[in-house]
Amino acid sequence: MFEDFARQWTPVLPAAEVAKQPRRVVLAGTPLVLWRSRGGLLSVLVDRCPHRGVSLALGTCTGDGRLRCGFHGWEFEPDGSNAHIPFNPGSPRGPRGALALPSRELGGLIWVFTGFDPDTEPTFSPHLADATLARFEHHEEWACHWTRAMENMLDYPHLPYVHRSTIGRFVRAKQRRDSTLDFDLTDTDYGYRFGARLDEHPPGAYLSWYRPNSMILDTIPEPRLMRVQIFCIPAEPNRTRMLLVTARNFAKNPAASVAFDRFNVKVLHQDRDIVESSAPPEVPAEKLEKSVRTDRPTLTFRTWYLRNLKGTSVAEPA
Ligand code: FES
Repeated sequence: MFEDFARQWTPVLPAAEVAKQPRRVVLAGTPLVLWRSRGGLLSVLVDRCPHRGVSLALGTCTGDGRLRCGFHGWEFEPDGSNAHIPFNPGSPRGPRGALALPSRELGGLIWVFTGFDPDTEPTFSPHLADATLARFEHHEEWACHWTRAMENMLDYPHLPYVHRSTIGRFVRAKQRRDSTLDFDLTDTDYGYRFGARLDEHPPGAYLSWYRPNSMILDTIPEPRLMRVQIFCIPAEPNRTRMLLVTARNFAKNPAASVAFDRFNVKVLHQDRDIVESSAPPEVPAEKLEKSVRTDRPTLTFRTWYLRNLKGTSVAEPA
């Protein structure tokens, strides 16, 4: 399970999108079912009935807060334990439970751990939990490996080309043929943060990498906050769920929000074709591509991925 993405916390969906009705989500090749029991209690199970392997997401939530399989009606508690087997009152239910995964509801997102025994908690920026900010969420799936999407999000030099009509406009206006780009990259406990200096100009934007799969872009100096966060969530092989969350502490009226939100989705879409065209689909070893000095932030991520996640997986509990 969770090949090349074992033992990580990642959001999978905005919390508001998970209700009583079971919802299927594939995470790093493993299908999951998300649902809410009594009082909105969140449950995440591997989406496979232990009886005959069908999708539990095709089932229903019972009035007393259990998930009932749509095939033969076995019922499961939020922790996966078997609560009922129709027509077999004497059958032991203990060994016939579904597999539950650790999950959290934090910062308006549903987080899932790709393993069974987390020794950490999700790491996230406090802005996600700040209810005073104007917030926007959007997600969609791209036909690419998540590592290519993640590198794209940490890649500054593409801004004046891919985003020449949006966030790259200001870089383009200052860029000369002999321009130099420098990064003041600082390692942090969550990953790194850097500002990009073009020639003599001070940094106009800051990028942060939150291990394993998220980027935050800050484009406006304090006290204003215009923060764009993107999670590149591995779904099926070479399919990535791009989850965009933006937060802003100014121009919070509805009309401004519509304009900002459209703009941010437009920026995201400008990346899509380029990233989906990557070959090979997954980032290869550094020596197999021709890199330059300004690739340092993306290569830092790549090295970490190849050393720490590539080749990992989780065995199902017996
Ligand atoms: S397959 Fe789920 S109860 Fe039979």
